[in-house]
Amino acid sequence: MTDFNTANTPFDYARGFTIDFDLRTGASALRETSLRPLSAVKGIFADEAAADEILKKDDPLIYEFHELSVPEHPGDLAFGCSKVYPGKIGKEYYMTKGHFHTVLDTGEVYYCLAGHGYMMLENPEGDWSALELGPGKAVYVPRRYAHRSINVDPVEPLLTFFVFRADAGHDYGTIAANGYRKLLIEENGKPCIMDNPKWSRD
Ligand SMILES: [Fe+2]
Repeated sequence: MTDFNTANTPFDYARGFTIDFDLRTGASALRETSLRPLSAVKGIFADEAAADEILKKDDPLIYEFHELSVPEHPGDLAFGCSKVYPGKIGKEYYMTKGHFHTVLDTGEVYYCLAGHGYMMLENPEGDWSALELGPGKAVYVPRRYAHRSINVDPVEPLLTFFVFRADAGHDYGTIAANGYRKLLIEENGKPCIMDNPKWSRD
């Protein structure tokens, strides 16, 4: 495939560009991949003893993401792919850390390319929902809602493509401090919601 334009500038943010990425992995040869092994995110899981037990022998990759896009500039759109691997820590499925945006009043779209999972949403007042994701399904993350991807498939990675305003920033600290109100765990072979015993809201 060929792009036609007046200048040979493949990543001109002001004039438009295309970028290839792998529909199975979400990765692009032209962009960096960020890896999140268990040792980097173990505090997000409720069962700390189970995480420590695994880390004695191994440090499995929980998720990775690929920023495919642009500098943090007002009016531009950041986009990329997130890949959550299959697995559990105790009864809790592998998942991303989750975040609010620094500009809280920011929406985001996630489009599921592969796998089976949930998007956990929660606003500062504690309203929450867990929306199911499968190939071809898009989830709209509303303004003011933290969001976390959770993979409930025992075998396949959960791959999503995301888009949000480029200057929105990420606030991981609020979730790191208080957790999410609800956990998604496996019970009798099925995804199940339970209260997070550590959840608090200042
Ligand atoms: Fe986000």
